[in-house]
Amino acid sequence: MTHRCLAAEGLAAGYERGRHVLDGASLTVPAGRRLALLGANGSGKTTLLRCLSGSLEPAAGAVLLDGARLQHTRRGLRAHRQEVQLVLQDPDDQLFSASVAQDVSFGPLNLGLGEDAVRERVAEALALLAVDGLAARPTHQLSYGERKRVAIAGAVAMRPCVLLLDEPTAGLDPSAVTEALAALARLQATGTTVVMSTHDVDLALRWADEIAVVVDRRVVQGRPAEVLGDDALLARARLDRPWALTVGARLRALGLLPAGALPRDAAELLASLPARPGVPT
Ligand SMILES: Nc1ncnc2c1ncn2[C@@H]1O[C@H](COP(=O)(O)OP(=O)(O)O)[C@@H](O)[C@H]1O
Ligand SMILES: [Mg+2]
Repeated sequence: MTHRCLAAEGLAAGYERGRHVLDGASLTVPAGRRLALLGANGSGKTTLLRCLSGSLEPAAGAVLLDGARLQHTRRGLRAHRQEVQLVLQDPDDQLFSASVAQDVSFGPLNLGLGEDAVRERVAEALALLAVDGLAARPTHQLSYGERKRVAIAGAVAMRPCVLLLDEPTAGLDPSAVTEALAALARLQATGTTVVMSTHDVDLALRWADEIAVVVDRRVVQGRPAEVLGDDALLARARLDRPWALTVGARLRALGLLPAGALPRDAAELLASLPARPGVPT
């Protein structure tokens, strides 16, 4: 799959006249990478994702795909949606067909593809999201985590180069989060750029290659350890510092961790601690 670079420049967007949720927001989604979009509740993450997908037209600024400005015409939006797909936070806003397979085939059918091509795309998307066993099931009988993965499969069947996921792990139990992240890893291996919004700083630290924080109607972007170690920024954004950076920095100050990158999660932290004879690892 060819990588396409999605970006936003100086976006202003909102829902009421004169009250912008975003104002001067710029963002570059690095092609082929994993970007976590962080922000407190109500900061504007969903609004930004909707602008990037074309479902909300900004009042000012531009969304760019490989430098070409998104045009909010029928043609412009249709072309954009073949490359950039948004999966809504609530799967029930997205799933409406009788069965899983029907739901996932909706987008490819709409593209005017032939029966065989649709079947191939549906099978591929269901397998990537590990919901192939559910193909014949009615969507309303599925668990919340299964419905979330089926909703993602529907977007994946469009073979977008950029997949925008609004809070894909919200409301999932830990094993469903693990399954969702494994599915995203398989997807990224196919060459898809993945953007995930979340307010979970610990998840963002361990998952993302790049972080963007929505704060004061703008976006601050950078490498995970840099952005998530910036206490002043985190306070402005009403986010906590990830526990792994706090504990890692303390252990380093105590001389228990070697120099280098701080651990991003429990496994990395344990692996970087010194071994002691007689203490099992
Ligand atoms: N459809 C809407 N109509 C009016 N206001 C909205 C709408 N959607 C969101 N908002 C408001 O815009 C702000 C940002 O919302 P949102 O982008 O959903 O934030 P987040 O996804 O970070 O929680 C909030 O103050 C929210 O109340
Ligand atoms: Mg939201």
